[in-house]
Amino acid sequence: MGFLAGKKGLIVGIANDQSIAWGCAKHMRAAGADIAVTYLNEKADKYVRPLAEQLESEIYEPLNVSKPEQIDELFKKIEDKWGKLDFIVHSIAFARLEDLHGRVIDCSPDGFAESMDISCHSFLRLAKKAEPLMKDGGSMLTVSYYGSEKVIDNYNVMGVSKAALEASVRYAAAELGPKGIAVNAVSPGPLLTRAASGIAGFDKLMQYAIDNSPSGKLVTIDDVGQYATFLVSDAARHVTGNTLYVDGGLHIKG
Ligand SMILES: NC(=O)c1ccc[n+]([C@@H]2O[C@H](COP(=O)([O-])OP(=O)(O)OC[C@H]3O[C@@H](n4cnc5c(N)ncnc54)[C@H](O)[C@@H]3O)[C@@H](O)[C@H]2O)c1
Repeated sequence: MGFLAGKKGLIVGIANDQSIAWGCAKHMRAAGADIAVTYLNEKADKYVRPLAEQLESEIYEPLNVSKPEQIDELFKKIEDKWGKLDFIVHSIAFARLEDLHGRVIDCSPDGFAESMDISCHSFLRLAKKAEPLMKDGGSMLTVSYYGSEKVIDNYNVMGVSKAALEASVRYAAAELGPKGIAVNAVSPGPLLTRAASGIAGFDKLMQYAIDNSPSGKLVTIDDVGQYATFLVSDAARHVTGNTLYVDGGLHIKG
């Protein structure tokens, strides 16, 4: 019996076996949690389905967070099947390539709003739906990056969205604390995933992390997943409102 035995969790953001969400899912499952998994669309289904099968997920639903009816359907399934929820992991982000690759001040209003909506406000939408199901308290986790705090070359509009996400974590933590719900972000160092491959010069960012972090190493999805597993457990119930680095100490070097 693992230390998440009896816990029910929703994990949003598995695209493939390189995804940070997958690192979280496999360690949370290994610790005994039942995991609900979502996939973005039909194209993603063939990559995500075998992973959901490995997790023995009883709940496997399509979810594009821009489609409110899919959020409703997902939470209805969770309520019908489990009647409760103990944690959510939100591990998604999006920016149009022209915005990600361009200057922040050149972002179109639509592109800016879309990045903010998918990368930040969707976390609050999931939190709102999860709140009534977290009857015995719970944990809500999202994934940020240091580009929220400092200007990182080529991170651009995503840095702005992550800054809003981290502020949302603090406000949501204050609002949900009285219900025993902890809200945090983890902030991993750079690791090669599909989302990361859209960032220009990402190989340089990884080399910088190796050369400058105290650990001298890149983090892995397992490093993030193991820490996230602790964060959604009862052992971390008083850890809330934080952005917590999993970056081999890179942030202390700037
Ligand atoms: N890879 C890194 O170096 C790194 C570092 C710090 C933070 N992050 C953050 O980690 C999170 C996960 O990214 P990843 O690196 O694992 O890449 P990934 O490509 O594996 O995951 C990104 C996920 O976002 C999902 N997504 C995008 N738009 C969506 C929408 N409209 N509805 C639902 N899902 C949608 C994709 O389907 C995918 O599963 C992101 O928030 C990313 O910004 C990544």
